[in-house]
Amino acid sequence: MTLELSRSLLYLDDITVSFDGFKALNALSLLIEPGEMRAIIGPNGAGKTTMMDVITGKTRPDEGSAMFAGRHDLTSMDEARIANLGIGRKFQKPTVFESHTVWDNLLLALKDSRGVFGTLFSSTSASQKEAIEELLETVHLTDASMAMAANLSHGQKQWLEIGMLLAQDPQLLLVDEPVAGMTDAETAQTAQLLRKINETRSVVVVEHDMTFVRDLDVKVTVLHEGSVLADGSLDHISSNERVIEVYLGR
Ligand SMILES: Nc1ncnc2c1ncn2[C@@H]1O[C@H](COP(=O)(O)OP(=O)(O)OP(=O)(O)O)[C@@H](O)[C@H]1O
Ligand SMILES: [Mg+2]
Repeated sequence: MTLELSRSLLYLDDITVSFDGFKALNALSLLIEPGEMRAIIGPNGAGKTTMMDVITGKTRPDEGSAMFAGRHDLTSMDEARIANLGIGRKFQKPTVFESHTVWDNLLLALKDSRGVFGTLFSSTSASQKEAIEELLETVHLTDASMAMAANLSHGQKQWLEIGMLLAQDPQLLLVDEPVAGMTDAETAQTAQLLRKINETRSVVVVEHDMTFVRDLDVKVTVLHEGSVLADGSLDHISSNERVIEVYLGR
């Protein structure tokens, strides 16, 4: 095993994904260290979501390897198995159970849950209650715990979904455009939330909102035409002429 692979949590090596001959990912390589949070930016169509599709087993690469924790070959596993390994994914559109309360959404998301009926019609254990209360606090929804998910603001729904992912206790959280459609205040709170989550888990977050990316204060990778164009601090990549040309300067 190479040294790079052994010290990585996620290791993408030379990944290519073609759709009808068009390379959505083109020899993409990326290494995420244990405990790291990484921001991924880049123009529309750069391959950011496709990269997450490869990591989560939704899309199989034509070439290349994707290794988790130095030993799990993600390209040979299905989505359920990858989720069970400890990789959680948040899509752009929140997918909460609208007709259930915030509390019940989190209860349903807990790892030991027994299906909707079994979970909601049996008593909640002390440890489940404690876990839910902690999740509510983390995602700033304690005061809304008895509200119907349908009645939450867009930002609150996003936080609830992040809470539901945390209920699964993932080691790596993938988040695709979490602050799209949020108010400035919600955006700032989401940066704070991800930083808190990153105290105990690794995070890969795709975003176009540069104020948010600055707030995260982490290493940034710029994708362009399916490969890495540049990476480093936001200040470092912001002064890169190619990055300005293809993305930041538009
Ligand atoms: N299932 C698919 N079939 C065909 N083409 C696809 C498919 N999925 C993605 N693509 C194409 O691959 C390219 C990369 O798309 P992707 O969604 O990964 O970009 P992105 O970086 O997430 O962009 P955005 O910032 O707009 O979300 C695009 O040109 C897209 O049209
Ligand atoms: Mg996308």
